[in-house]
Amino acid sequence: MTRHFLRDDDLTAEEQRHVLTLAAQIAGDRFALRPLAGPRTVAVLFDKPTLRTQVSFTTGIVELGGYPMVVDGKLAQIGVRESIADTARVLGRQVAAVVWRTYEQSRLEEMAEHVGVPVVNALTDQFHPCQVLADLLTIAQHRGGVDALPGTVLTYLGDGRNNMAHSYLLGGALAGLHVRVATPAERQPDPDVLARAEGLARASGGSVTVTADATAAVSGAGAVATDTWVSMGDDRSAEEAEALFGPFRLDERLLAHAAPDAVVLHCLPAYRGKEITAEVIDGPRSVVFDEAENRLHAQKALLAWLLEQS
Ligand code: CP
Repeated sequence: MTRHFLRDDDLTAEEQRHVLTLAAQIAGDRFALRPLAGPRTVAVLFDKPTLRTQVSFTTGIVELGGYPMVVDGKLAQIGVRESIADTARVLGRQVAAVVWRTYEQSRLEEMAEHVGVPVVNALTDQFHPCQVLADLLTIAQHRGGVDALPGTVLTYLGDGRNNMAHSYLLGGALAGLHVRVATPAERQPDPDVLARAEGLARASGGSVTVTADATAAVSGAGAVATDTWVSMGDDRSAEEAEALFGPFRLDERLLAHAAPDAVVLHCLPAYRGKEITAEVIDGPRSVVFDEAENRLHAQKALLAWLLEQS
């Protein structure tokens, strides 16, 4: 059966743990795995801007022995020049896997239905699961390994309805974390995603909390994360974003409520003075560049595992 990674809960808890453990091993021995030797091609498609995702997937695919074929979505116009299903059938005859950054989750689902090779979500409007795999790896590296993830408090501050919030809820709950989302009432997570995260947390021993109280959410946290206040495609003005999310800015005052050894995460790009202050992102608790590097290790482990399963 072809396996895909379209959202965080496409892996079981055991599978997520396996991928994270493999990622930690790969981080220490970058050229040990060659599942794409040939080289086999992986199509890496972008309908939205990127830096980290393009660099980490292309580097990772080369390190796995393969060839990364980067396709500009503006040129390919997937779903415009021809159906997503026909595009999938063409790609599936030639490539070993498809990595796609696009808009609605349904576009990715249609690709996965017709392509016959693993499809990986490189960010959609709803989820950013590769980022959260990298974030979990980063927390594990700084807090005692993959075994230390269950029970860790992860607080996310900011837009509770964006792709990072949704992926923290699903991926964090799957890993047994206590996930706290601090967000204004206007930006509550998608109710279906929240319900799914609550179910995952019940099974894993973790928990899920959504609150408008940023201080309570950060209190005692082992990891504190935030993200841009204005996601790709969002037309909210800077003034509106400040009014809505200003109380959730990650600054020294708020971070002082976290555990003394808490790490600070941001998937980048970051806007200093908006969602996070320069003192925090450039300070001693920030692990954001480990996090950016871990995109590489986590995605290599994921691709290797998906290819093996499929
Ligand atoms: N964090 C992240 O996905 O970065 P890019 O948008 O630069 O790929």
